Amino acid sequence: MKKFVVSTDKPYEIIIGKDIIKDAGNYIRQCISPCRICVITDSTVNRAYAQVIMTSLMEAGYQTSKIVFPSGEHSKNLTTYSNILESMADEGLTRSDAIVALGGGVVGDMAGFVAATYMRGISYVQIPTTYMSAIDASVGGKTGINLLCGKNLAGAFWQPSLVLCDYKTFDSLPSIKLQDGVAEAVKCAVISESSLIPKIQEEDYEYVIERCVSIKKSVVEADERDMGLRQLLNFGHTVGHGIEKLSTFSVSHGQAVAKGLIVESRAAYRMGLTDTNIAPELSNLLSGLGFDLSIGYSAEELYRFALMDKKICGDKISMVIPESIGKCRLQKISLSELKQFVQLGLEDA
Ligand code: GLY
Repeated sequence: MKKFVVSTDKPYEIIIGKDIIKDAGNYIRQCISPCRICVITDSTVNRAYAQVIMTSLMEAGYQTSKIVFPSGEHSKNLTTYSNILESMADEGLTRSDAIVALGGGVVGDMAGFVAATYMRGISYVQIPTTYMSAIDASVGGKTGINLLCGKNLAGAFWQPSLVLCDYKTFDSLPSIKLQDGVAEAVKCAVISESSLIPKIQEEDYEYVIERCVSIKKSVVEADERDMGLRQLLNFGHTVGHGIEKLSTFSVSHGQAVAKGLIVESRAAYRMGLTDTNIAPELSNLLSGLGFDLSIGYSAEELYRFALMDKKICGDKISMVIPESIGKCRLQKISLSELKQFVQLGLEDA
C-alpha cells in the first residue's frame, strides 16, 4: 500500500492499494468524524461496489444513504446535479455530513461539485473505481459538470478529505474503460516521465498509478487553481474535449485524449514551436496500445470547440508544447494562431 499527502490549502491523503475498499469506513474515520454519509454513485458502480462501501461505513459508525444516477457522460449535466442537491436537502443532510464519490470521472466530478456547493461546501471522499479516475480525475479537487456548449464549463475547485484508490476494482472494467486510463497515463509520461511507458505497456497498475499521482500531486501543489503549471495536465485535451463533444460522447474521454495528443504534438512541431516532432513515435506507441487515432472531424469544427477551452485568457490560449517525450512546456498563442494550429495538427491525420 502507498500513501501520499497532497499539500494543498486543505491537505489530504491519497491511499493506493489492492482490495482496500472493504475497509473504507475505517480509513474515512481517520479524517471525518461520525456523521451521515451520502454515497453518490452511478448505476454500473452501484451494482458492483456500493454494498461493500455502505456496509463498511455502517460498521465504522456512520449513518448512510445513497444516490444513484444513470452511468455515462450524458448524465454529467445540470439536471442530474440539481436532482442530487434536492435529494440531499430532502433527506436533511447538514453541513457536518459528508459525501462519498464512488465511481469513475463522471461520478467524481459530479459528486465533488455537489460537495463544493451543497450548503456552500461539505466534506467528501473520492473512491475512484476506474483507471482514469485513479490516476487523474480523483486527485486535485477539480469538480464540475458539462454545459450544452462544452465539457466541464461549470465547476469549482474543492479538494476531497481523502482519496481511496483500490485498483482491484479495475478487474471489473471493460477494456475501453481501461484504455481511458492508459491515455491519461501516456499523457503523464509525455509531459514528465518517459520511463513510465514500459510500465504502462506491462499494465503495472500500482506503479503507474503511484507515479501519475505523484506527478499530479507536485503539479497541483504548485498551482492548485490551474493558473499556470497545472495546464500541462491538459495536454491533448483542447482537441480531445472537442472530439468527445462532437461525437456526443460516443468517443470516450481517453480515446479522444489519445487523438488530441497526436494532433497537438504534430501542430506544435508544424507551427515551429518545437524542434522535435514526437507525433510519429507517439502514434506508434498509442496504436500499439490499441488506440484508433483517426479523427473524423474538420479543423473548423474542432476550432469552434477549442474556443470554449478554459486555458483561454483574453485573446490567447496556453498550449502544451512537447520538447521531447518526457518534457513539455506551456506557450501562449493567439486565438487566430489556434485556428492554424488545429489545421496543421490535422494534416495527414
Ligand atoms: N485533469 C487535469 C487537472 O486536474 O488539472
